[in-house]
Amino acid sequence: MKEYQIVVLRGDGIGPEIVGEAIKVLDAAGEKYGFKFHYDDRLMGGCAIDATGEPLPQETVDACKKADAVLLGAVGGWKWDTLPGNKRPEAGLLGIRSALGLYANLRPAQIFAPLKSASPIKDEIIGDSLDIMVVRELTGGIYFGERGRCEKNGVPAAYDTEMYSRPEVERIARVAFDLARKRGHKVTNVDKANVLESSRFWREIVLEVAKDYPDVELNHLYVDNCAMQLVRNPKQFDVILTSNMFGDILSDEASMISGSIGMLASASLAEGAKGLYEPIHGSAPDIAGTGKANPLATILSVAMMLRYSFDEAQAADTIEKAVNDALTIARTPDIYEEGYKKVNTVEMGDLVADLVRKA
Ligand code: IPM
Ligand code: MG
Repeated sequence: MKEYQIVVLRGDGIGPEIVGEAIKVLDAAGEKYGFKFHYDDRLMGGCAIDATGEPLPQETVDACKKADAVLLGAVGGWKWDTLPGNKRPEAGLLGIRSALGLYANLRPAQIFAPLKSASPIKDEIIGDSLDIMVVRELTGGIYFGERGRCEKNGVPAAYDTEMYSRPEVERIARVAFDLARKRGHKVTNVDKANVLESSRFWREIVLEVAKDYPDVELNHLYVDNCAMQLVRNPKQFDVILTSNMFGDILSDEASMISGSIGMLASASLAEGAKGLYEPIHGSAPDIAGTGKANPLATILSVAMMLRYSFDEAQAADTIEKAVNDALTIARTPDIYEEGYKKVNTVEMGDLVADLVRKA
């Protein structure tokens, strides 16, 4: 029997609730396909601050480095909002991305057929289906550039720096082109090359990498135009390749096309198959403990884990299909529509796990 070691970072807010459901579904898939998961719970984010004073304890980093994959819920909350930047829960998340070298963030924005009516975009714009993959650079750019406080014209000021090196751009571009080859053979590079030197540099390198992929169509959009095109004509996109900050913003926007940010999964990958899997939404402290959280993004994240870290495509397909089928029966409040059973977080997890077992 194949066995996998998974470090679990439940985090804050709704994190523990949604992770519990994802583990339930992962175990159901394991039973069905004959593999076993070992879970190692560790602290990161606000819960780690409360317990240790640090958002990312060294022992968490060490455990993640040894594991086959990492499953993360969400971090952050009002309670820690007034801490200095490098002590906030989010610093833990950035720290683990960096420590594990998770430079490639894959954020698929898909519409599940039963959820089509939940999308705020008109039917004629979406058509029958929609499947966009945002490839976001995750360990460079303005998130990790030099920052600080200073003075400007004698008054207080602050700065953050966007900087990308050649290898940083090259490797993320290759991830995007390789993925496009397995999908619609199209990459849209998104930058702000009309203004930013770092974007002009980024684009030059993307153009160079593109020479190795003559079978993949490449086009370029400025980020403002891309934000507009995502709602005007989302069907034009296959793979969107972009920087850390633009990817952060555009992936939230793309997620809304699917009807709810509660549906969007993500994989953050390092060289090799090591990955961290998390929903793209936050810790939603306002609904923590109420049973209203939608666990599907986290459940879809473990499907990505099976696909990208463990090469278990069949088990991943089964989970994705179970999610699709669950949506024809039941809904959490964020995606509720008349005619469906209204369920809470645990009931949704149970339903998907059940559908996986019966598949
Ligand atoms: C995300 C989040 C994080 C980011 C925050 C919580 C630091 O918004 O994963 O998209 O900006 O990367
Ligand atoms: Mg974000």
